[in-house]
Amino acid sequence: MRLVLLGAPGAGKGTQAKKLIEKYGMPQISTGDLLRAAVGAGTELGKEAKTYMDSGNLVPDSVVLGMVEERLRQDDCKNGYILDGFPRNTAQAEALDEMLDKVGMSLDAALSVDVPLEDLMKRLTGRRTCKDCGQMYNIYFSAPATEGKCDKCGGELYQRDDDQEETIQKRLEVYTEQTAPLIDYYSGKGILKSVSGTGNIDEIFANVTATLGIS
Ligand code: AP5
Repeated sequence: MRLVLLGAPGAGKGTQAKKLIEKYGMPQISTGDLLRAAVGAGTELGKEAKTYMDSGNLVPDSVVLGMVEERLRQDDCKNGYILDGFPRNTAQAEALDEMLDKVGMSLDAALSVDVPLEDLMKRLTGRRTCKDCGQMYNIYFSAPATEGKCDKCGGELYQRDDDQEETIQKRLEVYTEQTAPLIDYYSGKGILKSVSGTGNIDEIFANVTATLGIS
């Protein structure tokens, strides 16, 4: 299945994508993770991306599109993938359609994970992630047993640089202006599906798989 996950920052795209990987082994392609890896590695691309990410703006399409195209060419994408955080605007969505057209493929679904914007600030300021295994926690909703330590592997937990209130506010504005219009874009193509992203994570996952027809 070739799937796009849509949703505001903090809607739970990453959380649900990880559960899809665990259950179905589909690769998750998160442009946010790819960009953070480039920032961590100190590459030229990472240095350029960091200024945009820290201010809550989108990284230029010219940077993101090349990165995605290269990732989609890798072997593990042959049988499908989950795009998480991409596309982020109409130009990226059109570029993705072109990339897929070139290889005679198309998307199976775009799944929107819907959460009221007012619930997102706490999810994002409270997010903590394990440096070693990537497991996610939230100090308000799903805190680790020991503060700052991962329950699964004992690794150290960190807070993302862009999970500060002012930056989150900007990310939410950018989402509303540039990304939310993709809901109409995919609805127009007849592949839009939506689930509520509020409530218990496992129950949301059950709705995700049922909505996609893969439960
Ligand atoms: P990116 O990394 O894509 O961040 P985002 O879209 O802002 O999304 P998040 O990762 O913050 O949220 P999520 O929906 O995955 O939620 P999660 O599951 O983590 O992008 C970061 C930046 O990179 C962008 O601002 C931009 O600069 C750049 N970028 C990335 N892609 C780009 C692109 N295509 N083009 C240009 N620039 C790009 O959950 C959040 C928290 O909530 C966690 O603590 C979790 O435990 C908790 N949680 C999850 N589900 C629930 C629930 N049901 N109830 C309670 N808590 C929950």
